[in-house]
Amino acid sequence: MLNTDLTAQTNTFEVGKNTFLMNGKPFVIRAGELHYTRIPRQYWENRIQLLKAMGMNTVCIYLFWNIHEQTPGVYDFTGQNDVAEFVRLIQKNGMFCIVRPGPYVCAEWDMGGLPWWLLKKKDLQVRRKSDAYFMEQTAKYLKKTGEILAPLQIQNGGPIIMVQVENEYGTWGSDGKYMEMMRDNIREAGYDKVNLIRCDWSSNFFKYNLPGVTNALNFGAGSNIDDQFRRFKEINPESPLMCGEYWTGWFDQWGRAHETRDVNSFIGSLKDMMDRKISFSLYMAHGGTTFGQWAGANAPAYAPTTSSYDYNAPIDEAGNPTDKFYAIRNLLKNYLQEGEVLTDIPANPEKIISVPEIKFTQVAAVFSNLPEPKKSELIQPMEFFDQGWGTIIYRNTLPASNKKQKLILKDVHDWAVVYINGKAIATLDRRKGENTVDLPIFKKASQLDILVEGMGRVNYGEAIIDRKGITDKVMLVTDNVQTELKNWLVYNLPVDYNFQINKKFNRKAVAGPAWYKATFQLTETGYTFLDMSSWGKGMVWVNGHNMGRFWKIGPTQTLCVPGCYLKKGENEIVVFDIAGPSKTVIAGLNHPILDKIVKDEAEGKKTKTLNLNGANPVVAASLTDKNEWQTVNFEETVSGRYFCIEVMNAQDANDNAASLAEMELIGEDGNTVSALNWKVVFADSEETTKYANGADKLFDKQESVVWQTKLGEKKGFPHTVVIDMGKEVKLKGVKLLNRADKNRRGKVKDFRFYLQKQTFKIQ
Ligand code: GLA
Repeated sequence: MLNTDLTAQTNTFEVGKNTFLMNGKPFVIRAGELHYTRIPRQYWENRIQLLKAMGMNTVCIYLFWNIHEQTPGVYDFTGQNDVAEFVRLIQKNGMFCIVRPGPYVCAEWDMGGLPWWLLKKKDLQVRRKSDAYFMEQTAKYLKKTGEILAPLQIQNGGPIIMVQVENEYGTWGSDGKYMEMMRDNIREAGYDKVNLIRCDWSSNFFKYNLPGVTNALNFGAGSNIDDQFRRFKEINPESPLMCGEYWTGWFDQWGRAHETRDVNSFIGSLKDMMDRKISFSLYMAHGGTTFGQWAGANAPAYAPTTSSYDYNAPIDEAGNPTDKFYAIRNLLKNYLQEGEVLTDIPANPEKIISVPEIKFTQVAAVFSNLPEPKKSELIQPMEFFDQGWGTIIYRNTLPASNKKQKLILKDVHDWAVVYINGKAIATLDRRKGENTVDLPIFKKASQLDILVEGMGRVNYGEAIIDRKGITDKVMLVTDNVQTELKNWLVYNLPVDYNFQINKKFNRKAVAGPAWYKATFQLTETGYTFLDMSSWGKGMVWVNGHNMGRFWKIGPTQTLCVPGCYLKKGENEIVVFDIAGPSKTVIAGLNHPILDKIVKDEAEGKKTKTLNLNGANPVVAASLTDKNEWQTVNFEETVSGRYFCIEVMNAQDANDNAASLAEMELIGEDGNTVSALNWKVVFADSEETTKYANGADKLFDKQESVVWQTKLGEKKGFPHTVVIDMGKEVKLKGVKLLNRADKNRRGKVKDFRFYLQKQTFKIQ
């Protein structure tokens, strides 16, 4: 029988033949992921109890290096960062724990959990053993976590049954030696007795071997379970099966449709796992909120994550059970193991409240409140000015000229406004690859200000070295001659609350970037959702707590404020808005708005048509119905900058839709060509309104998120996408991955691949 008294020091956890063993008996792990960083400490225990009531026996957690070591060598594991207390609460509630210390965790968290100060090393490489500094820093950090958590291994009487090595390394590389070093670091950090685990995908877990470590596969709602584990079972016939992350929903990105995952398809695959006694961890069981500046981004295409991490998870952002929660509880009650009981659902410690419109009367313009500048010959990203996050302003003087000139900004990370003599003349958005500004003619020397806001650092894939501000240089182009601008004044606008507050606030209305301040009275506290829909772009602090980022483009229009950050009586709210509000009021709603996209541009590519007459395909080929990467080699090496994939039909004869998970190109050296600078220039159809299934999902390296044409459309095959690679590339072949979920809509069969040096005819 399962010993639920975890303090009794009598539990044993082992990896047996085809099953995990708890106290010598077969044991199915039913875990749910929670992030202590995304839940105010006051509610930790409530969320753990909710997981238990949902039918979980284990809580899975990441550790977040960059929140614990914000200054090199200074560690903080107290208060909101007291992860040992979180683990003890798991134990107190009779549950087990899986710890995933990283150092890299992904998790839609700034730089995947790596501290920004690593970026001060100019030639930094991460997740590679060749960078001694990275390896040394990670080992030191892991040791610290070991001091705190190793005493809580199950062999020491604690709840920790497994510790994960790194995270989804197969999506990044294949260097088994690096992973061995990470495994050894974990052991040396003090996790000496516990079972180790790694997680990867069915399409890449075989890329490296890691002796002494159990393997789990990650996949999403609606997956075909037998397909997911087929190859894995062939290679690891005696391993217990586990889904290391079963994605309950998905995260949202600015400017893209709100992500949801249907309850029925989610439950269907969960039941398939239960029927096969496959262990799982629900990612996320409860997402919560990525407060402050901690939300990360994906790339390519650069896509910053929203602050709401609701995730369409079974427990919503404010800690309330959803339909998915009840469906899971209902299913799992049939699969409890000997000695387990389904507990009652605990009440939320907070109610939901509405707050009447707060009017902002106090304002402080950024340009009248600049901090002391630093001088710098070369323009540099903010990390080199010791700034981790926020906004940076670069100032220079441009000589008088009666010519039409241009500025080229290399590169804007991530959103910039360019001012001449205090007047905004352009905004540049990294998501759209914008980097050029036409300057007005100015007959006198003029002041140039470039305000750049850094959004989330990329947390996934090749672009993870993601410094903020202007990363390289700014060129002034006169008569086609480019001159690098030098000798800058640099103003750092960090995200610390104290920096926002000591400004000269007054009642005069301002245009342009500014701080806004107000107070409001409450007679009761509770969760509320600040309606930011009349504001531009920035951050909000409530009683000194940073609630995260807002951006009028959506899909999130609200900021979730936990009741514990509010007070009875007077409360303070500060807004930093760099794009400018249309109305300076905020109401606290009793519900979130997570799904309202406001288009900030007319997306031209949708209204155009592609003419392939006269274009010759490099190859015409077919994909099989199998869920694996399929490679098509060309007869000879070809060269070009623009490529087009033309899908001729789907696996199911009556289907008129196309859908594809991933697409890679093989360069002349046999390696995958980087997709970092790829841009979709045409898609005949893409689902970007109801779901985030745009054509750039073809090269986002996230296999579970697919490109899909709009369903219900009359238009049928062929379906086409054209991509500009940004430069000419020599290619030997193409690799495609069909969608792997149970939903077969659009699964590609025959296709043609075109490559050209010049752009295709798009009108
Ligand atoms: C992967 C990562 C997680 C998270 C999810 C998506 O599985 O391991 O950290 O990024 O994707 O939410």
